[in-house]
Amino acid sequence: MTIPRAKITGTGSALPARVLTNYDLEQIVETSDDWIMSRTGIKERRIAAEGEYTSTFATRAAQRAVEMAGIDAVDLDLIICGTVTPDFPFPSTACIVQQNLGAIRAAAFDVSAACSGFLYGLSLAEKFIKTKAASHILVIGAEVLSRVVDWTDRNTCCLFGDGAGAVVVSAGTGPSGILSTHIYSDGSHWELLHQPGAGSRNPATQQLLDSGRIFIRMQGNEVFKLAVRAMEEAAHAALGANGFMVADLDILIPHQANRRIIDAIGKRLGLGEEKLFVNVQRYGNTSSASIPIALDEANRAGLLERDALVLLDAFGGGLTWASVLMRW
Ligand code: UT7
Repeated sequence: MTIPRAKITGTGSALPARVLTNYDLEQIVETSDDWIMSRTGIKERRIAAEGEYTSTFATRAAQRAVEMAGIDAVDLDLIICGTVTPDFPFPSTACIVQQNLGAIRAAAFDVSAACSGFLYGLSLAEKFIKTKAASHILVIGAEVLSRVVDWTDRNTCCLFGDGAGAVVVSAGTGPSGILSTHIYSDGSHWELLHQPGAGSRNPATQQLLDSGRIFIRMQGNEVFKLAVRAMEEAAHAALGANGFMVADLDILIPHQANRRIIDAIGKRLGLGEEKLFVNVQRYGNTSSASIPIALDEANRAGLLERDALVLLDAFGGGLTWASVLMRW
């Protein structure tokens, strides 16, 4: 019995039109372009307009991915959406996207793994393809983080942005496609990066709103150190599982949280700067959307040559981290 290979056959991304620069942020909190650039490498980020939701960008990104894959939405068997900023606590954003696309045959659900959500989704998709439970799967990473950021907290508000990326994963044969996926979690550090409200622990009361405890909280310094370590570990796991060396890699597309984290990983791996894909300067940290947006940009820019060895590497709240190695 041949096991199908999971292949990415289409990519897409969608971003809000509104750009919020570091200079704009200087008008909102006590910060500076110089501080944000030197500590994060972020120059600007995109912010959703009124009437735009996570599903708005998820749907647009999905439509572009489906179009590139050359299939119809009705061909989709499954829709998986990584997000921590869903349209609603329920139903899932994936169900809203299913309706928007007219993907009437697809089962749909969300994955909550913070910034690793897209790679968790890709890992699930690979298993569905390999077990022949599905032939065409849409995997999305989509966020509107601007709605869960405390715009009075300079420690966090300059870091995040909104947007979505998507891929179609289809069953194929041959050597190209997803070679391996690795996913990890460590719940003992959940408090380092979390959104306290509003869930069953801190329900949506007036008191919660007044306390400001509804928004993202992060101990940036601790997260930084753990991110570098975990992403390096996940990268080595992916390469080791397939018998490759760092030198075999053609491109590393890491989660885009901070330019310094990306550079530190590149340095620790001994990977040349020219093999690191970076767009954090334009979008900030879009959590689960960052890798699929970057993948789509790299793809449409012609940076992913046929047979290129491509490594995706993520880290986020949970803690969660993950890697996916592909032959393009
Ligand atoms: O996506 C999931 C993963 N997330 C991440 O990977 C994020 C990881 N963490 C980071 O990227 C960095 O830790 C930050 C960018 C969040 C912070 O950089 P840092 O070099 O770790 O700075 P810090 O937290 O040690 O803060 C240094 C100082 C503090 O002042 P004091 O206490 O030393 O007087 C902050 O209050 O910088 C201050 N500060 C700011 N100053 C101007 C924090 N934010 C700002 C700001 N503008 N926006």
